[in-house]
Amino acid sequence: MSKEIDASELMSLCKRRGFIWPSFEIYGGVAGMFDYGPLGCSLRNNIVDVWRAIYKGREGFVEIDSETVNPREVFKASGHVDEFSDLITYCKECEAPFRADHLVKEFYDNPDVLTPKELEEAFVKHSIKCPECGGDLGSVEEFNLMFKTTIGPGSSRVGYLRPETAQGIFVNYNNLYRYNREKLPLGVIQTGRGYRNEIAPRQGMIRMREFNMMEVELFVDPEDKDWVRFPKIENEMITLVPNTTCEPVEMTVGEAVEKGIIANRVLAYFVYTTKQLLIRLGIDPARLRFRQHLSDEMAHYAADCWDAEVLLSYGWMEITGIADRGCWDLSRHAEFSGQDLTHFKKFDEPVEMEVEKIKANHKLLGPRFKGQAKDIAAAMESADPKSVVDGKLIVNVNGEDIELTSDLFEVVTVREKIAGKRVIPHVIEPSHGLDRIFYSVLEHAYDFDEKEEYTVLHLKPEVAPIKVGVFPLMEKDGLDECARDIYEVLQSAGIESYYDGSGTIGKRYARMDEVGTPYCITVDYETLDGDTKGTVTIRDRDSKNQKRIPVSDVKAIISALISGDSEF
Ligand code: GLY
Repeated sequence: MSKEIDASELMSLCKRRGFIWPSFEIYGGVAGMFDYGPLGCSLRNNIVDVWRAIYKGREGFVEIDSETVNPREVFKASGHVDEFSDLITYCKECEAPFRADHLVKEFYDNPDVLTPKELEEAFVKHSIKCPECGGDLGSVEEFNLMFKTTIGPGSSRVGYLRPETAQGIFVNYNNLYRYNREKLPLGVIQTGRGYRNEIAPRQGMIRMREFNMMEVELFVDPEDKDWVRFPKIENEMITLVPNTTCEPVEMTVGEAVEKGIIANRVLAYFVYTTKQLLIRLGIDPARLRFRQHLSDEMAHYAADCWDAEVLLSYGWMEITGIADRGCWDLSRHAEFSGQDLTHFKKFDEPVEMEVEKIKANHKLLGPRFKGQAKDIAAAMESADPKSVVDGKLIVNVNGEDIELTSDLFEVVTVREKIAGKRVIPHVIEPSHGLDRIFYSVLEHAYDFDEKEEYTVLHLKPEVAPIKVGVFPLMEKDGLDECARDIYEVLQSAGIESYYDGSGTIGKRYARMDEVGTPYCITVDYETLDGDTKGTVTIRDRDSKNQKRIPVSDVKAIISALISGDSEF
């Protein structure tokens, strides 16, 4: 396990070496906003590539890229307009805003389940005052976390910056379903920005107002919540914290499903996939666990949810949520848009059965609705009899809702050969907080070399922003030209490299170790002459071992080391 660190130490390294910079620093900065520098961009892109390799590559999911500004209708249907809020209180004296639950966290295990009234009572009971000025705190109210805007001039069309990329996938369900030739399961990934107007972000990259997500939405048959690759991983171990005991327990993935701890095989498969992803990115398995949400902690859309939590200098922190969203999203978008967002599930053989149907009363419809009567009758006869409420049926014809009284139709039972039935797919969602993963990878890679007295990031070669440092022993006598040639070969092959000719070799190694570069190549006089002509030294960051390899093999050897096809 690497050295325990203070988050501010790591953030200062990140800033100094160009991983992360506080945004708008020349204007004093804005809390919860950060820019990625050159090394940060590379590390983040490499993390995304590994995620893509697993979901798009191994699992065969498809990728889309949808809009970040969405009209209000989307988030009214998704529930975010009404439900997506945190509880806020303002100091009555200095007017500073606070997340009310954060003010009482030392007194409650799970303060985010407290109601506004319970929080106000807790302020009194525990004599909680404004942390800034000691003043009295005001009432506790809901604060919606979405950034609101208008689409187009004026205020005619309200929009919001998306708080999750997921909705862009749900509203495209019909396009995706057609693309997938009307088959389930249907797996879709999307990476991009999400926005949450956090009340008072105070934990560096852990709580950002504009953040990066890697989301996965898997549409499955609700009667068949399984995954074809489940048998390959059912005997693998996993650390779970179920909401029944709230204690960590180790078991196999198969056992977790058999014992009903994880509700179904597809959810369990993607909990385990998340473990594979995070470990491949460099998360320490000993500091990783999966905690099930308490029922009153779950997001408004979730039927079950497991958080991948990692131990950081901040304590246990969730970096990925794997939720079973059930039919929430598609049912709501179907209801609000009036569109059919179902899957037609074919039976193995057509089945003859009694079915209820709506039969329109054409004699009355004609005189009452004239030219519209034919369209209304067609809409009625394709409507589900279950949608008749209090004897009335509402159908949408050409964008208009038309209410039909019971004299205009009857519900009849007929025998029909049925080829299949329509079901609303359920959604399994592994949603990854990319910035939190990025930060956690850095914390878990962080170490201090006591002998050399400098920081080393033990980043996995696959994610390290710079793969190879290339040094001439001296910047003269053709050593520099040879080193530059090697650098160019590597860069041209897409292997991010760094040419460094200044300072002692020890200092150059230290500079590379501090940003997690796994390998360094040094061109010396033996490269140009003598028995070892045409060879360079390659040095491994973690073991500090060195060996000579032919210049002509540098690219192939480095590629194999990065991909894991060979070991140093
Ligand atoms: N889509 C999951 C989340 O927003 O947390």
